[in-house]
Amino acid sequence: MPMRRIAVLTSGGDAPGMNAAIRAVVRCADAAGVETLGVRSGYRGLMEGDLVPLDLRSVGGIITQGGTMLGSARAPKFKEAAGLERALAALASHDIQGLIVIGGDGSHRGALTLHEAGIPIAGVASTIDNDLGGVDTSIGADTALNTALEMVDRLRTTASSHHRAFVVEVMGRHSGYLALMTGIAAGAGLILTPEVPVTIEQAVRAVRYAHDADKSHFLAVAAEGSPLRAVELVEHLSGHGEFDVRLSILGHIQRGGPPRVFDRLLATRTAAAAVEALLAGQSGVTAGLVGGGIDMLPFATVIQPTPKVTPELCALANTLAR
Ligand code: ADP
Ligand code: F6P
Repeated sequence: MPMRRIAVLTSGGDAPGMNAAIRAVVRCADAAGVETLGVRSGYRGLMEGDLVPLDLRSVGGIITQGGTMLGSARAPKFKEAAGLERALAALASHDIQGLIVIGGDGSHRGALTLHEAGIPIAGVASTIDNDLGGVDTSIGADTALNTALEMVDRLRTTASSHHRAFVVEVMGRHSGYLALMTGIAAGAGLILTPEVPVTIEQAVRAVRYAHDADKSHFLAVAAEGSPLRAVELVEHLSGHGEFDVRLSILGHIQRGGPPRVFDRLLATRTAAAAVEALLAGQSGVTAGLVGGGIDMLPFATVIQPTPKVTPELCALANTLAR
């Protein structure tokens, strides 16, 4: 029997472009004669049965806005059997025949449990960490990258004026994508990631090199989750004489703000593809950018991270840092 009613939720860390994805879900489903309910606050709202009707007008204007109009949450209780049971009961009581989950790897692990429980479900790849398996770029990563880059560019001018070293911490608890790409694009002298660790001796050598090469400043970009933490590096370098050192932690500013054009288009196209797949009877698949086009990938692929931070790219960054 064709679906008449689906639901959509956003889960995990929010990402600029999630709203554009919600809008596309609602409008594409409506065009196919299918009603959409929005689940508030991710899996927490699903367990609590917190669903609201969404129509063409309720998603008007949101394509320009960052964050997610539905709210997002970390919901550890959903990982327990009782949490899953509550979510299944809520879906049944609202007569939901299919679900769209917009989120990152954790959200996709949650989606997999629903898929295995027999719920027709499709994902939309969305996280600023850009660490989903098989996906070139997930929703939000481009906007976050541009935000981080603008901040680092700004720090560079003051660093250079004062002959200072800046260690800038960017987001990425388990992913060095933002750090590496921001670092390369900003021309940083050192990049610290969880995937390709750097020792304190290597870091000190990089600072000395910049000093001895008569550079006006030194810039290091460190992922939040790199084994050598930004704060440790600053403590170590302070008082060593090469450069006066400052720490700057960019934090959640990178997740906020309006989505740039790339993320609006990516969100729109991937969400539309997810709805199409779901209504065509597919389940356990995620829409993402793959090889420059939009494709559907199995959840099992998406939750296995394919490293985008490679030793080769880190070596290139080092070559360019001279
Ligand atoms: P992201 O989707 O951005 O990676 P999280 O890792 O915080 O964010 O995951 C979001 C939510 O997905 C969690 O709070 C939890 O509700 C659900 N989730 C994560 N891992 C699992 C899992 N192994 N099983 C079931 N649900 C999960
Ligand atoms: O959205 C992904 C991410 O930004 C990670 O890089 C970071 O470690 C984490 O979320 C922090 O988010 P929160 O403070 O919301 O737990």
